[in-house]
Amino acid sequence: MKTPIVILLLAYFCKGQQLSFDSNFRFGVATASYQVEGAWNIDGKGESIWDHLTHTQSSYIVDGSNGDIACDAYHKTAEDVQRLVDLGVDFYRFSISWPRIFPSGHRNYINQAGIDYYNGLIDELLAHNITPMVTMYHWDLPQSLQEIGGWPNPLLVNYFVDYADVLFSSFGDRVKEWITFNEPVQVCSDAYSTGGLAPAYTQDGIGGYLCSYTLLMAHARTYELYNNNYRDTQNGRVGITLSASWGYPASNSDEDVEAAENFLQFKVGWFAHPIFSSTGDFPTVMKERIAQLSQEEGFPRSRLPSFTDEEVALLKGSSDFFGLNHYTTNECSVLPEEDAIRPSQQADHGALCVQPPGTEVGGSDWLYVVPEGIRNLLNWIRTEYDNPEVMITENGFSDRDGDLNDCRRINYFNEYLQNVLEAIEDGCNVTTYTAWSFMDNFEWMKGYSEKFGLYYVDFNDDDRPRTPKMSAYVFKNIIQTRVIDTTYTPDGFEVCAAE
Ligand SMILES: *[C@@H]1O[C@H](CO)[C@@H](O)[C@H](O)[C@H]1NC(C)=O
Repeated sequence: MKTPIVILLLAYFCKGQQLSFDSNFRFGVATASYQVEGAWNIDGKGESIWDHLTHTQSSYIVDGSNGDIACDAYHKTAEDVQRLVDLGVDFYRFSISWPRIFPSGHRNYINQAGIDYYNGLIDELLAHNITPMVTMYHWDLPQSLQEIGGWPNPLLVNYFVDYADVLFSSFGDRVKEWITFNEPVQVCSDAYSTGGLAPAYTQDGIGGYLCSYTLLMAHARTYELYNNNYRDTQNGRVGITLSASWGYPASNSDEDVEAAENFLQFKVGWFAHPIFSSTGDFPTVMKERIAQLSQEEGFPRSRLPSFTDEEVALLKGSSDFFGLNHYTTNECSVLPEEDAIRPSQQADHGALCVQPPGTEVGGSDWLYVVPEGIRNLLNWIRTEYDNPEVMITENGFSDRDGDLNDCRRINYFNEYLQNVLEAIEDGCNVTTYTAWSFMDNFEWMKGYSEKFGLYYVDFNDDDRPRTPKMSAYVFKNIIQTRVIDTTYTPDGFEVCAAE
């Protein structure tokens, strides 16, 4: 009879105690090749789909800009690594540009200057005790491969594995953390279903699903390649990074609860279930709903491709960690029948997910500040996929002004990191946190108008000077002290107003 009181007392004292990050919890910052490198046609690099889109259809980019020069990171390896040292990060997550390695998109010719550039970056990081974490594909597909259909073409499985093989053999002696793909949902849905990313195709309900089959198989075959040819000698880890928003039901009604769950299964489960679940394959609800709607719409077969048993088995368990990019939370209700465009991915999941009432919006119109969303999502991943190791590979906040006294970003990091600590208390196996982004950069269709950086970059200056924002010092302080101190104000900055 006394036990409940003891537990209550324990809960009371634990809550009063400040949570802190273990000494082996790792912190880093991230970028992606097209967003920061520039040098788009330097030293033999080939054309990517982002070079092509920005050069031929610049009206897709809100400010008409492109990544031709971006942050000019290609020419600033030594000084940028020094900034990473200043921040005190354990690792740097960056991506490799496929057309910088294979200018034609194919393995017929390997561009040595591209290999040299990444060798220089990797060696400079290691010389400063910073671990390189490498993303193989962060959206800059060789244009030549788009011209044969891009990711909806299943032949790209072979071409991606050719590319991954060269990356493992060139860099794997020093790179021990590999991420095959960054955000498959965006690579597939946005690029081939809704047109929000290059190549900006709009075959909603078709293109994205075809892409997902190719991308998942490319991932699994790459993982298999590492196991067969590299793991014994290189001893690294290979995983994938999925984007996931949290979604919760707008009401207790069965319809809204189902809509929120469908939203998670269609947006997270789509790529997570084949890899991380015990049963494998796409989520059952996805297979059933898409098959049903496809039939109603007169298609001779489901718009969602299916895997063979051998493919299901190959995909299952094909990631050494769950890479998670998280930014935002939505409130979901059932999509009214009359609002459903058919066919579409939204009609397929049947959820209408919007800004939670009363929430702050970042500089991106989709970024709603709901700090407990990350804790809820991490717990959903824990229960859904038997508590995989989660590496948070992106989390961050955008604004449009680039203010150095970036209190809204600081507040975001403090509150989201507090919820990460609480998720760890809940039993989630989160080992790693990555702030997006190291510096302001080319934010895809939003050009330079939305800024996520810890460092401000002056894009009007040919030299692209970087200046640390207040958030850079706050992040450094968290890394050093392992605790979140909401009152910490670095020298030379104004105190942030209390929330
Ligand atoms: C977390 O994941 C790591 C890596 O897989 C593993 O070594 C560790 O035992 C896990 N920790 C818990 C608490 O499950």
